[in-house]
Amino acid sequence: MCGIVGYAGKRAAVDILIRGLKRLEYRGYDSSGIAFVRGDRIEIIKSEGRIDNVEKMAAKFAETSPGGNLNDVHFGIGHTRWATHGKPTTQNAHPHRTGHVVLVHNGIIENYQELKKKLVARGHQPQSETDSELFGFLVLEEMEKGASLMNGVRLAFDSVEGACSVVVMSERELGVLVGARRGGSPLVAAIDPEGGAILASDAQPLIDITREVIFVEQGDVVVGDSKGVHFFDLKSGAPIQRKTTRLDWSVETLSKQGFAHYMLKEIHEQPTALVDTFNGLLDLAKRGDPDPFPFADREVAKLLESASDIVLIACGTSWHAALLGKYWIERWAGVRVSVELASEFRYRQPVLAPQSLVIALSQSGETADTLAVVRQVNGLGNKTMGITNVRGSTLSREATAVLYTSAGPEIGVAATKTFSAQLLSLLIIAGHLGSKKGRKLEPVFDELLRVPHLLAGELAGTLASRAHAVAKAIAGYKGFFFIGRGYSFPIALEGALKLKEIAYVHAEGYAGGELKHGPIAMIDPNMVVVVLAPRDSWREKTLSNLEEVKARGAVVLAIGDPSDEALKQASHHWIALPEGARELDECWAPFFLSPVVQLLSYELALLKGTDVDKPRNLAKSVTVE
Ligand code: G6P
Repeated sequence: MCGIVGYAGKRAAVDILIRGLKRLEYRGYDSSGIAFVRGDRIEIIKSEGRIDNVEKMAAKFAETSPGGNLNDVHFGIGHTRWATHGKPTTQNAHPHRTGHVVLVHNGIIENYQELKKKLVARGHQPQSETDSELFGFLVLEEMEKGASLMNGVRLAFDSVEGACSVVVMSERELGVLVGARRGGSPLVAAIDPEGGAILASDAQPLIDITREVIFVEQGDVVVGDSKGVHFFDLKSGAPIQRKTTRLDWSVETLSKQGFAHYMLKEIHEQPTALVDTFNGLLDLAKRGDPDPFPFADREVAKLLESASDIVLIACGTSWHAALLGKYWIERWAGVRVSVELASEFRYRQPVLAPQSLVIALSQSGETADTLAVVRQVNGLGNKTMGITNVRGSTLSREATAVLYTSAGPEIGVAATKTFSAQLLSLLIIAGHLGSKKGRKLEPVFDELLRVPHLLAGELAGTLASRAHAVAKAIAGYKGFFFIGRGYSFPIALEGALKLKEIAYVHAEGYAGGELKHGPIAMIDPNMVVVVLAPRDSWREKTLSNLEEVKARGAVVLAIGDPSDEALKQASHHWIALPEGARELDECWAPFFLSPVVQLLSYELALLKGTDVDKPRNLAKSVTVE
């Protein structure tokens, strides 16, 4: 994980670095730091804790050091850390200095122990417990032998194992930034139109400067200075050309826009995320009978249509979306679907049919385990497809084909709108494949158009206020169970995950039918059971589960149809889904249930006083396994 940023040009670099790091904070936030050039020296300011600490230290530096005006600084690098090697202390925070070399690093150096021994034997004295600092010694050694900074970085990679990205500078070559990427840690570069270069772990820090970005491929070195950026091959050092991509994200989408937290804003953006995803995926000009779901991307359609069966792989929330994908694709398309956790699949000996299509879901497109599966499956000769929210992400470049959700940037660490957008993309896959098999799915398409409107109508009003009131009533309980059946089961898992992630409350998600097989032993008057019971084929059975837990003393919060008096009467607390949702096919229930469990977790987290957007120990993009 970790976020890195570097700037060389004419603008005030410290401001760019700090603002950039704040946008990358989702990648890790246990310590941070910046390094910048003043005169012929590189100064380093770093601290444990959040970027605010570094920002304050930089302001103090500007006030107290002679000639400390940081507006004159035009060159520097920064880092926000998610600790892997060594505790999150100031000492272990990046940037790291090794002689005249200063670097930031994202990823893991796998041969760290062995490398450390060798470097210590050669007389180096690491000051931190990190693997990252070791890379700096390697660059230093190469430069001492006469290599340029760029070649020093290239040659240093010969001694390290593992995937990582670095951005390095040196007091010997002031004004030059060298970035390099090997393996899964992403890096994006851009030319500053005012003269200069910017590099970062994702495009967000670049957006204030330009929307024309270049995704650094693995095995690339990028050299940036006040004139722009140049690309080279990491192994040979030969110059290479890289294409520029124009981003459709704007600066506005990166702000909270009046919401108290990014997570809340993103929950409320779900109707728009659904509409944009739907418009992005389908070629509406070709829409109609027999296929109401024609993919705009022909390659995506071809791959889907030629699959004998589908394997959905993912981690975390994306895995929950995949579980729902199975229900829909099997129901409408009659295509066999299996759902796999990427971290398990990659270390098994999975059996795939020659025409099995592996679809990897990852909002970030950078999750290490998910990417490892894609590489493994590509190697086996099977086709892969990525579903991701991030254009230019590693997944989008490594899968045979890619399908983009268009949820816009999601900054809150807990996935919300990207989850809904993933659900929609899977439902569209189901609809497309079903139509190809002669199923009449036009009504499903028509309903799709209604879902965002129904949701938008109640999200900010009734749903938010009910979640707020109910959260207050149940905040003091020991633990939570979320139960659901059918389409509500993956949402029960997701509801429990959200609560664990942001409120640090013990929560479990269960299929209603599984309760009797063990978990019911946990039920007592200190336990809240959240019962997801929309009016669907499973409602009666779910209601029986509700009675069982109630009989054992549980406090019941039911979420269901507004007209469901029986459900309402049976429960202690109650949240009604939007009016009108029951007129739709039951497949749409997750699109309404999901924002409710998200809001509930959000409200409970507020009451617990946790850091909603940056919960402890987590990172949004898990680029290490
Ligand atoms: C992290 C995030 C989760 C996310 C998971 C998978 O754990 O905190 O919110 O669901 O990674 O991420 P992906 O980007 O692959 O969907």
